[in-house]
Amino acid sequence: MKQPIKGFSKLNKQAKIEWLVSQYTSDPSASLDMLEGYWHNQPEVQKLHDEFIENTISNYYMPFGVAPNFLINGKMYAIPLAIEESSVVAAAAKAANFWLDRGGFQASVLSMVKVGHVHFIWEGKNVDALYRLFEANKDQFFTNTESITKNMRARGGGVLSLGLVDKTDLEPGYYQIEARFETCDSMGANFINSCLESFAQTLRDLAAANQAELGDAPLQVVMSILSNFTPECLVRAEVRCKINDIEEGSGIDNQEFAEKFCRAIRIASVEPYRAVTHNKGIMNGIDSVIIATGNDFRATEACAHAYAAKDGRYTSLTHAAIEGDEFHFWIELPLSLGTVGGITNLHPMVRFAHELLGYPSANALMQITAVAGLAQNFSAVRSLITSGIQKGHMKMHLLNILNQLEANDAEKEEIVAYFKDKVVSHSAAVEAFVRVRAQGQAQA
Ligand code: MEV
Repeated sequence: MKQPIKGFSKLNKQAKIEWLVSQYTSDPSASLDMLEGYWHNQPEVQKLHDEFIENTISNYYMPFGVAPNFLINGKMYAIPLAIEESSVVAAAAKAANFWLDRGGFQASVLSMVKVGHVHFIWEGKNVDALYRLFEANKDQFFTNTESITKNMRARGGGVLSLGLVDKTDLEPGYYQIEARFETCDSMGANFINSCLESFAQTLRDLAAANQAELGDAPLQVVMSILSNFTPECLVRAEVRCKINDIEEGSGIDNQEFAEKFCRAIRIASVEPYRAVTHNKGIMNGIDSVIIATGNDFRATEACAHAYAAKDGRYTSLTHAAIEGDEFHFWIELPLSLGTVGGITNLHPMVRFAHELLGYPSANALMQITAVAGLAQNFSAVRSLITSGIQKGHMKMHLLNILNQLEANDAEKEEIVAYFKDKVVSHSAAVEAFVRVRAQGQAQA
């Protein structure tokens, strides 16, 4: 059995790696070489990465791709996408080109409000007294956060509202202070959490000073934390074109394409098994932009799926309709993003992604990201209802298979050319590789 280690985080990087590879890998020296091979060749950049988290031993590379030709609200974008899945960037680029010729994407932010809560327990009987105390002292909650909110207020943001919410139907004695925030161009997690911790302290102080009014029941703050569910931080992106202009290219009639597309979206709306996969495809596009721009994909994921289930059943994040002679396709989802703070100004690739996008505001980045999700879904559904998904998917995956087989460049070129007009499967790729390798060996 492996031995536990005390004080690992206090070791220097070299010592951490040596301990780790000696304990957990079969060839420590090869593991060491591999880890070092992924270090950045500029020590100051590596140091930056080392300091993002604790116990950094190396870097984890993801491909950083770009999908050009996105026309959004009349402006051209090349969207950066960080993702390991073979077909995602190709799918985004394909959708961008398709809609470029049909008026592009329209996007708008519907609202940018974020929320957080002080969750507390108070089992007193005089609920009116609790409400009176809260309302009579509301200003104090604001005053006590003035030093925290000063800069945000100067930028036009801050605490928008505070309310006391009775949740005793869910848990005995459970109340919340619900706070709503505007955090401008920052995602605002630290700002919100700092405000909430201040509200919690104000609440404790008020309870202690007003025991006579509140009665004997103690007031216990359980926790103070932002919510990653931000249904009021909402963005919409859409495309529309005349059905006659669809001319999709795979031979399917325009009207049939529009109808089949809408039916596919309706299936995702009513069938959670399909909706999860459908939304996963949307998140392929969204997460890629989120990661490339240094935002929090876990928060985005959690929020998007909660939003997809907000009416009590998990459903599609996108919608489609035939409106007269037009095909209309849109997405509406919450995205809480930042373009300042976090690692946005620190990570060189993230900075580059922001530069590519013209240093967008959080509002603009919400729109671009929603468009990436819509584009991804358009390409996926387009393939699903015409050629099937595997044709494009496996074509993109072919290089992964060939790399696994350790094919050389000439072999790859020949095999990719061979599959140009054929459907790729794993076994067909292996067969082709064996044949091409044998030919090469026979000629040598
Ligand atoms: C694969 O990563 C994503 C898709 O399954 C999405 C979908 O089915 O809509 C292709």
